[in-house]
Amino acid sequence: MLASGRGSNLQALLGAIAAGPLPARVVGVFSDKPASGAIALAREAGIANVALRPRDFADRDAHDEALFSAVAAVQPDLIVCAGYLRIISAASVRRFEGRMINIHPSLLPKYPGLDTHARALAAGDAEHGASVHVVVPELDAGPLLSQVRIPVLAGDDAAALAARLLPREHALLSGTCALLATGWMDISRDPVVFDGQPLRAPLVLNDDDTFREG
Ligand code: GAR
Repeated sequence: MLASGRGSNLQALLGAIAAGPLPARVVGVFSDKPASGAIALAREAGIANVALRPRDFADRDAHDEALFSAVAAVQPDLIVCAGYLRIISAASVRRFEGRMINIHPSLLPKYPGLDTHARALAAGDAEHGASVHVVVPELDAGPLLSQVRIPVLAGDDAAALAARLLPREHALLSGTCALLATGWMDISRDPVVFDGQPLRAPLVLNDDDTFREG
């Protein structure tokens, strides 16, 4: 897992693994922020972790090369970006083509990049949500795997919207990882395959945490 922040998605995945529905193992946590919650969580859980500060490297390529060499060393089947807030160089994305996913707090293709909650509010959207997608060199632009939708409520500000979305993000990410871990979804194929068929639209997470076809 790659993370820059508090690590609540990492915690959710570890919870889903411990509780049973996610047949997986987190073999390493990688970050650009040594003081992040995600790295602290990894330490507490006894998971291998590496945090490399960008300012200790000459440029983005050098930082990515070092960080992703550490990722490669743990031989992951899947790389999960969960609040990894740096753009990843094209060379590093290509190194793990078809093996890297990202969770983004918007209904992509709406609002790639930052400030997604504020942008949804400013646009007057009735619905907001989160998306899990395959990572490609273009920012937040890879094939969409799954989405969760929540209503925007009267009186919502960006913080309230983000807080209401977060637990649904956790369910979306662990549910999508479970589909990948069990082989129901295959992102090494282009187009992505789900249940033996090309995935034509992102799966939608229901309120009971099952998925329906979108
Ligand atoms: C999550 O809300 C995730 O969607 C977002 O960062 C947060 C990480 O939370 N990701 C992005 O904004 C990616 N552009 P966490 O550290 O508690 O898992």
